[in-house]
Amino acid sequence: MNILVTGASGRIGSYVLGRFADECNAVGVDLKPCPIKDLKDLVVQGDLRNYEFVREIVRGVDVVIHLAAQVSVENSWNDPVYDAENNVIATINLLKACSDYGTDRFVYISSAAVYGNPKYVPIDEEHPKSPISPYGVSKLAGEYYCRVFSDRIHTVIVRPFNVFSARMDPNNPYSGVIAKFISIVKRKLLPVIYGDGKQTRDFVHIRDVVDFVEIALKRGENGETYNVGTGKEISILELAEIIMDIAGINGKPVFDKSRPGDIRRSCADISKAKKLGFEPKTDLRRDLEEIFEQID
Ligand code: UD1
Repeated sequence: MNILVTGASGRIGSYVLGRFADECNAVGVDLKPCPIKDLKDLVVQGDLRNYEFVREIVRGVDVVIHLAAQVSVENSWNDPVYDAENNVIATINLLKACSDYGTDRFVYISSAAVYGNPKYVPIDEEHPKSPISPYGVSKLAGEYYCRVFSDRIHTVIVRPFNVFSARMDPNNPYSGVIAKFISIVKRKLLPVIYGDGKQTRDFVHIRDVVDFVEIALKRGENGETYNVGTGKEISILELAEIIMDIAGINGKPVFDKSRPGDIRRSCADISKAKKLGFEPKTDLRRDLEEIFEQID
């Protein structure tokens, strides 16, 4: 099977490419070179906004797993056109080329950002979609394009919640709270909590996300959307306490003013993914201990 992984140098894409690299004829594409030594030679650099380039790389491919995206919420406000070009136009280019060539399967990695501020938790796939950033809008637009193209090619949409892994650069704003907290406590400083720390998130380990991408590829139904998370929520204060405990730091986190537009609660309803056989294995404490050793 020939697989193309877009966004293969990224924080989810590099793991997805790694998973398929041994079993399949897998190649990646990304704007940037792949930082992972073993995968570097498998990743072609190129711009998915360029339709001619997209046609070239899609030819002969059986499956496309599309993760390439502009992923920063903040950047999406600074340059919403760049965000839309990378998240919407690039997705349309791929869908069009795939449908022209008769690609078997297309898996689109969306985001929980499409839900906006949850009206209820756990959030199921039918929850109203009301994005609160240009990024959320562009990812949702990508989903809708996938759905209309599902008349022509088999498309499956995956919505990850808060993904964490060892490949999170704490200096990169997209990396999120876990990388930041680990990096801070490693320097013997206290983590800073925005707001009261009672806001919750569903943190899912990359291993589970990659497992589910594989399931979605093999068994996902055409035109369907699946959340991927753990179905468990944890407060940011509890997270800070666990990470401080792992680091052997006594004391309390520092509280700062809340981040504008911060979502209060987030937790995935993963019943639909479970029906396909998904069983998340994330064990937050254990996985944080492991990642702690790997992040600077
Ligand atoms: C995440 C995604 C974002 C997406 C959104 C959709 C990441 C990095 N971001 O945002 O792209 O649009 O889900 O739901 O995955 N916090 C602190 N101290 C810190 C850093 C963060 O208290 O130093 C708090 C934040 O205020 C927030 C929580 O931790 O309440 C999680 O923050 P973050 O990891 O940035 O992710 P989301 O806001 O959930």
